Amino acid sequence: MAQVIYSQDSDDVISPDIDTEIFAKDVMAGLSAKQKYIPASYHYDAEGSRLFNKITELPEYYLTRCEADALKRNKDRIADLLTDGTANLIELGPADGSKTGALMDYFHELKLDFHYVAVDISHTALEQLANHYQSVFPDQSVDCLVANYVTDLKWLKKRYHQKNLVLFLGSSIGNFNAAQTKAFLQNLRQNLKSGDMVMIGFDLAKEPELIRQAYNDSENVTAEFNYNVLRRINRELDADFDVTGFRFEGIYDTDDNVMRSYLISLKEQEVYVGALERSFGFLIGESIHTEDSRKYRESDIEELAVNNGFAVDCHLYDSRRYFVDSIWEVF
Ligand code: AVI
Repeated sequence: MAQVIYSQDSDDVISPDIDTEIFAKDVMAGLSAKQKYIPASYHYDAEGSRLFNKITELPEYYLTRCEADALKRNKDRIADLLTDGTANLIELGPADGSKTGALMDYFHELKLDFHYVAVDISHTALEQLANHYQSVFPDQSVDCLVANYVTDLKWLKKRYHQKNLVLFLGSSIGNFNAAQTKAFLQNLRQNLKSGDMVMIGFDLAKEPELIRQAYNDSENVTAEFNYNVLRRINRELDADFDVTGFRFEGIYDTDDNVMRSYLISLKEQEVYVGALERSFGFLIGESIHTEDSRKYRESDIEELAVNNGFAVDCHLYDSRRYFVDSIWEVF
């Protein structure tokens, strides 16, 4: 039985969906900065999520297929963690449930007994997911928990006392900067107990041209995914961005192993944001930084684990070794 529940107790902040006021504040800060930026989390309204799903099917965007392959090749290793007494399989950011769908099928074939928890900030997305799980896995016990898992993980300690395996897949960790990554991993560690496990998806550093193509696809879906952020500001904050006045480019920084996404102004222009009652000027060639997608070496991953209170248990690779799902134990 799948049910939607909230993480909040009386001492927690209630934040079921992105608030327009916070969005306006973030846009104000981002468009006033020397290097203009829009936080990457604003990509994911309904249209952005639809475009992201389209990205995952593009021939150039290898990440999703490689991770699916890594999970499939190593499904017995993951199932072992559940037979090992793990009671709760907790997925942070399940999207449409497809990342773990094949794994769940396999666990059911093995008749594994576990409680599944899908955690997302959007109530609407979780309602759809709850309906999906109800029809596909009617006998599986499922919580669809509304929480901002980037800042709020207190519910882990309060609700899930048995052994946990927490999944954070898709290389979503790569969209955090270094400080956010540290804060997220430390918060996760503090809210887990010794013996709990986590499995995190990381896109590995590789031939830069492959990475460039993955983010500069030939059908321009990634460009549309980025233009949608400007359209979203037009829709929700009453702005007048002329989207045709910008071009998209993903630039791979080979020193830091980060794909950096930008919208670049094609002309000198002014954009008015109604909700902020002010305009922002753009010079020709001036950019808005819209996202970072970090790529990792195994040594970076091991460092992240050890520096934040985890021990690496094993690395699960796809056949080309483009992607890794890294399993860590809390010590
Ligand atoms: C969700 N995240 C891991 C994707 C990535 O690869 O950074 C978002 C994305 N941006 C452009 N393409 C895909």
